Order: sequence, then structure tokens, then C-alpha cells
Amino acid sequence: MTQALKGIRILDFTHVQSGPTCTQLLAWFGADVIKVERPGVGDITRGQLMDVPNADALYFTMLNHNKRSITLDTKNKTGKDVLERLIKNCDVLVENFGPGVLDRMGFTWEKIQTLNPRMIVASIKGFGPGPYEDCKVYENVAQCTGGAASTTGFRDGLPLVTGAQIGDSGTGLHLALGIVTALFQRTATGKGQMVTCAMQDGVLNLCRVKLRDQQRLAHGPLREYSQFGEGIEFGEAVPRAGNDSGGGQPGRILKCKGWEKDPDAYIYFITQAPVWEKICDIIGEPTWKTDPNYAKPPARLPRLNEIFSRIEQWTMTKTKFEAMDILNEFDIPCGPILSMKELAEDKSLRKSGTVVEVDHPARGKYLSVGNPIKMSDSPTEVKRSPLLGEHTDEILMQVLGYSSAEVAGIKASGATEAPSRKPA
Ligand code: COA
Repeated sequence: MTQALKGIRILDFTHVQSGPTCTQLLAWFGADVIKVERPGVGDITRGQLMDVPNADALYFTMLNHNKRSITLDTKNKTGKDVLERLIKNCDVLVENFGPGVLDRMGFTWEKIQTLNPRMIVASIKGFGPGPYEDCKVYENVAQCTGGAASTTGFRDGLPLVTGAQIGDSGTGLHLALGIVTALFQRTATGKGQMVTCAMQDGVLNLCRVKLRDQQRLAHGPLREYSQFGEGIEFGEAVPRAGNDSGGGQPGRILKCKGWEKDPDAYIYFITQAPVWEKICDIIGEPTWKTDPNYAKPPARLPRLNEIFSRIEQWTMTKTKFEAMDILNEFDIPCGPILSMKELAEDKSLRKSGTVVEVDHPARGKYLSVGNPIKMSDSPTEVKRSPLLGEHTDEILMQVLGYSSAEVAGIKASGATEAPSRKPA
């Protein structure tokens, strides 16, 4: 079986997390992703948070599967010539350098278009046009400036960043969609185009419901927020709402049996209106089915703390998995809080390829998250990340058509290898 992006070649100039997430997805869909790395150094994540001596860190291996690596000094004259040839031979250039880096390298959009008018140039930056466009940005900066931090956490606590990497991986996902859309448009126009996604914009897109709430505030209090039931006035901006559900169905994280010792013995419980009567029966409050203070959703909104406390009395008598089994039988939406350990050991996630074991020559076996997007006609086989410069010769000769004598010349110029240390 072939893969959806087979035949598409990506010049992968990405580093750290946001860009590599994007190109890894494209590789999983079958694109030939050529990662260009600085000789001797490579992507900085190869050496960040190292756990096994002399082996690429998990930070790198888990974001760079199914790619090939070429080392190239793009500030070296011969290196620039090789890069020009790569641009001519690839469909898409993806980069997430700091603002202005590509231009300073001498590869402006105009120059790239001259070299290859069909090329799609896809970029991630921290901010779009505006006062911060020249700023360098990492994950948490994007979460803070994109509306996630101001709306995450508890009302009376600090703004919080989330564990989900919505700034980096979230923007990588957005960019991947932009790239395949541009590839699709190219089939009609024959032309490449620029695709950009700012991390602030990507995060804000994921916080869309909070901008919804910001506008609803002008028309009265947000009645589904716990603070409404607690009689606390709303300010001018959307407050942090703890674990209140972001939709119209109130929800909370509730303690389950064992919570005193297990930090993850909790369940998310949603009081979806159509199953309210079943909830009342399960928790042992059958009179709430008809009591006007509880029977209808609007009546319940000012009483959410009381209602969830009562439900929690019930969930505390069950483990999170027992509660899940019982509630699911009645179609009551809920979800146990699963730890990373539980997810790593989950048999069905292994079976579906969402959690995969990968073998790496330097570090041995490790776990990774596989392709979360499953396609019936484009299967994903997760292959280990490349060693630094592992495919330099192969790419120079097979992709770019250099002869072995020319490759020797390129190497002698210092374009592909870090200057070797003089013996002491
Ligand atoms: N050969 C020679 N030089 C290379 C090279 C290569 N193969 N690859 C990169 N470089 C050089 C660049 O030319 C640049 O040099 P210059 O500043 O003299 O022009 C230099 O490496 C640094 O690049 P930069 O991207 O600015 O790296 P940084 O480590 O200073 O900053 C980020 C890192 C992530 C903050 C920055 O890249 C950024 O803001 N990116 C956009 C937003 C983003 O994606 N952030 C999240 C990352 S997960």
C-alpha cells in the first residue's frame, strides 16, 4: 500500500519542537523529509534533557521519526550551493528559525521563488505582524500570549501553563494543514506559496471558546462557571475556571477511591442534561429528578458546588475505573485521569499504534507517541530518528546527483562537517 504524501520531498529546516512536529507528521504520511542540520551540532534537542549518555535525547528522537539527516553549514559558500540545489529538488521548505534568519542566510522568499517557483515555504514564528514580530518565542511564551494561561488555573491562583504543548506541537499541526492545503492548491495553480503560522495565533485558535466567553460577558455573568454559583462577581475579562467544563454541560474533576495516596485517582464527570435522571439514580438522589431546584439545567447552575460534592461522595466509593465502567453503562460522559505511566502501559493504545516502541542504535528501545491520525489507505510505520548527518552522502548523491568526486570536494570545503579539533 502506498502513502498519501509519497513523492513529496520536504526540506526540513526545523528545530526544537514546533517545526519538527509538523515535518514528522508529513513524514508519517509518506513524504521524504530531509532534515538539514548544522555540522557537529545538529538540532539542539539532540543534546537537551539527555538520559542515556552519548545517545540522542528523547526530546529529539520523539520528534524526528522517519526523517533523513544531512549536515550542512549554510553560512559556508559551498553549503549555500548545496542548499540551492536542495531547494530546486524539494517541494516544501519548512522552517522555524528566529525572525529574519532565513533572509540573513540569503534565502529570501523572492530568491527561493526564483530557484523553484513551485516551492511552498512554510514558517512558524512566535508572533505574526505587529509589535512582537521580531521576538523569539518558546512554548510557554505562546501559551501566555495566546490566551491559554490567563484562562487556565483557578480563579484565586496564578495563571497556569498546560502540560499539552499547544504552542509548539499545536502550531506544528496547524502548519502541517497549511502545507498540505498549499500542495493541494498547487495541483491547480502550479505555483508555490508562503504558509505562515504564528504560535500566538495557533494558541488563540485553540482558545476559541474563551474568546466566545469574553463576548458573552458583555451580556451577563457566565452562569456555567463555578464562580457564578459561588456568588462571586465577574470582572472585565474571562476568569480562570478551574476544571469547569468549557461547554454547556457542567463538568468537574472528582475524587475517586484511593485519592489520598494516588495523585491521579480522579475522574472527570460531566452532568450532561439528557442523562441527569440516570445520574440522580446512580448517586442515590432520586428526588432530584423532579425537585424544581435540580430537575432542569438552569436551576442547577447556581448549585453546581453542592451537586458535584454529592456526586463526589459517590465517586469516592469507587476506583476511577469502576466509576468509568458504571457510568459508561448509562452513557454518562466521564473520563478517568490517566497518568503517563498508565498511558504508556495501555494495551489498546499500543495495539492502535498510538503508543509505539522504537529501537534506536544508541539508546535501545524507547516509547513514543505514534501518528494519532489514522488513514485507511496511508498506513504509518514509525521509524527511528536519524543520527546526525546519517544520510549526508546518500542525499548528496541520490537526491542531488553529485558525483563521488564532487561529494569529496563538498566535504573538503567544510560545508558538511564540523571543523575537526587539532590534536593537542
Ligand atoms: N548552518 C549554519 N548556520 C545555521 C544553520 C546551519 N545549518 N542552522 C541554523 N543556523 C544559524 C542561523 O543562521 C542563525 O544564525 P544568525 O542568527 O546569525 O542569523 C542561528 O543559527 C540561530 O538561529 P535561531 O533560529 O535564531 O536559533 P536560536 O537558538 O537563537 O532561537 C528559537 C531558537 C526557537 C527561540 C527561535 O528559532 C524562534 O523563535 N523560532 C520561531 C518560533 C519557534 O518555533 N519557537 C518554538 C521552538 S519549539
